Amino acid sequence: MNTSFGIDVGGSGIKGAIVDLDTGEFVGERIKISTPKPATPEAVAATVLEIVQKAKWDGPIGITVPSIVKGQMVLSAANIDKSWIGTDAYELFHRHLGRERHISILNDADAAGLAEVAFGEAKAKNGQVIFLTLGTGIGSAFLMDGKLWPNTELGHLIVDGDEAEHQASSAAKDDFGLSFRKWAQRVDRALHEYEALFNPDLFIIGGGISRRFDKWGPYLTVQTEVIPAHLRNKAGIIGAAMAVTKDIAP
Ligand code: BGC
Repeated sequence: MNTSFGIDVGGSGIKGAIVDLDTGEFVGERIKISTPKPATPEAVAATVLEIVQKAKWDGPIGITVPSIVKGQMVLSAANIDKSWIGTDAYELFHRHLGRERHISILNDADAAGLAEVAFGEAKAKNGQVIFLTLGTGIGSAFLMDGKLWPNTELGHLIVDGDEAEHQASSAAKDDFGLSFRKWAQRVDRALHEYEALFNPDLFIIGGGISRRFDKWGPYLTVQTEVIPAHLRNKAGIIGAAMAVTKDIAP
């Protein structure tokens, strides 16, 4: 079996699993530990090590972070401790997980988008697709015939005077106590903006709330087709595991 380990670092939990790279299925249990507070690089790396040790895994590891990642350096930190900015993630995780280990780090939405192409929605493979994750923030992956343009940050586009993710992430739905309809109207506003600027063929929406797409999808009014992701919460872990073996991390 062709396997690797994927870790998804999120705002509330850090999750990891062994992934079968031929099928995209998890091998054994997914392990989840609450994100340490504050979620500094050292604290997160220590938690990642704990997960890897629990899984008794000694092979390659792909890790997602909710940040811009270039040359394995973390360059932004909208929903994670600000001390991540300027962190050499490659050095950090090697120091904690072992110098000999094969490691790569990439943006969480980019990882999820790549996983969706490989093992999820068949339509993700063709044309210009904007993949979005609606969670603590809004993450984005631009996909052109299944190939990734990494580090797009559509969650921070200003829509009606504020960042899209402050208004239309699933955290915003909870924070403002919005109904699905009210929240969907905000998502719709952001999608209209993205549509006008990028004219994609398709939007694919991931993140936990995509599971309830039947409740809010009908309120969307963009011309572009919008569909929920297939892989949902597994996508980040799968994409991370893929990235380390395929060397597709930025
Ligand atoms: C970050 C992105 C990330 C997204 C989802 C945004 O706030 O800037 O890099 O992909 O949240 O976690």
